[in-house]
Amino acid sequence: MLEDIVDTIDNIIAEHQVILGRFSELEAVSNDVTAVGAYDKARDMALASEEEQHLPRLQSTLEETNLKLKAHFDREDTVLLSGFEQHGNRKLLLAFRSLLSDHEEIRAQLVRVGESVSRLRAGGTSPGDWEERTKRMRTAITETRERLAAHASDEQDLLLKLRKEILGRRA
Ligand SMILES: [Fe+2]
Ligand SMILES: [Fe+2]
Repeated sequence: MLEDIVDTIDNIIAEHQVILGRFSELEAVSNDVTAVGAYDKARDMALASEEEQHLPRLQSTLEETNLKLKAHFDREDTVLLSGFEQHGNRKLLLAFRSLLSDHEEIRAQLVRVGESVSRLRAGGTSPGDWEERTKRMRTAITETRERLAAHASDEQDLLLKLRKEILGRRA
């Protein structure tokens, strides 16, 4: 049982790296999309190019990232929370509970990223409009990644403290 929660802690920490890596990939793909707008000022060319590769790739990377993050948050909201309830001191538990409230905000940010991608896919914009939209999308992705990285870092501190408590108590 104690091993289970220690395993969960280790998995969650490892997942932070994986999920943040997905966000870096999202940023890279969104850079490709932005580059299309910069090179092909004619909207038709940009549309042809993005339809071929970039926007669908962006959409699928986003969907994959969303699924991973949803499963990750769900485990933190349930298994990990109960780990803190059972094995953490009051201070740790309160700190972890307050961190969990970030999840709602990060989920909402991701919804906004999805909306900005959908707006791009909808097409029908002038080149200037296209640039503005890609810029907004890129900003939304970066802000979400930064928010998530800060959250994961704070979370990791608490997880390592809980891990130490559990293993120390057992020794
Ligand atoms: Fe979290
Ligand atoms: Fe996390």
